[in-house]
Amino acid sequence: MIKLISPAKINLFLQILHKRNDGYHELASLFQTITLHDILSFTFSEKDQLTCTDPEIPTNDSNLILKAVNLFRHKTNLKFNISIHLEKHIPQKAGLGGGSSNAATTLFALNRLFNDILPLNELASLGSSIGSDVPFFFSDGTAYCTGRGEIIEDVNHLPNKNLWIVKPPEGLATPLIFQNFKISDASKKDPRNVLNGFLTGNPDYFNDLEPAAFIALPALKTLKNELKNKGFETVLMSGSGSAFFCINETEIIDINNFAFVCKTDFLTRTKNNWYEIKKILQ
Ligand code: C5P
Repeated sequence: MIKLISPAKINLFLQILHKRNDGYHELASLFQTITLHDILSFTFSEKDQLTCTDPEIPTNDSNLILKAVNLFRHKTNLKFNISIHLEKHIPQKAGLGGGSSNAATTLFALNRLFNDILPLNELASLGSSIGSDVPFFFSDGTAYCTGRGEIIEDVNHLPNKNLWIVKPPEGLATPLIFQNFKISDASKKDPRNVLNGFLTGNPDYFNDLEPAAFIALPALKTLKNELKNKGFETVLMSGSGSAFFCINETEIIDINNFAFVCKTDFLTRTKNNWYEIKKILQ
């Protein structure tokens, strides 16, 4: 039996560079894992089985966890069956990478159960066929990601920030938001300069997908303004939405009247270990 946490991520900046011939968008983004997390337990058993605390999460082969199991089995030729339990806390369709993190955690767990048969970089490249965000979770937790998001470059850890994650009741489907994206929404910045800004204490938080998400769900723009009016210095949509992360250094702001609210902070991983958390999520 092995029990691991599966953390959420946010995008501290997300720039879309152009649309590629394969239909994906070339991007540059600084990804950061946060302490908001799911918990996954793995036990060898007679047949593959996935259970989840949230009845809204599909537990059939469409779940990225079972995709990861099948991929790992195919890659290694190992014969095994596994029972997996998912304790869900990360909201879905939020841009927080919950499903991708679950898939990455599954690949790491299976590999650990088989004495680290594959190196982490191979797990990351296996993960890229499940989803563009999966390889990121094999970084140290702070990474500059390019390509369709799957090319990861570890960067120095950033000073910790206290964050609030706020999500409205509605979720957003990633393909729809990329479809809505117009190239005129792309910020004309040098992403390497933006990255250096974060690394030298001059962060520039932006997300080129916000206008596309605001078209899909106009209430999101209102929510962003409401959060800014509460006094947050930074309010930014994560990934393709619909969650925002909010930062305020000076005072605690009361925002308990939104659909999903969670206080969190940055999380990083030490080499050869998966993400670990000391405090238990409330
Ligand atoms: O890679 P993933 O399966 O997570 O992507 C889901 C969808 O989001 C893709 O099918 C594509 O429509 C869109 N996408 C994109 N550009 C990216 C990542 C995702 O257009 N860099």
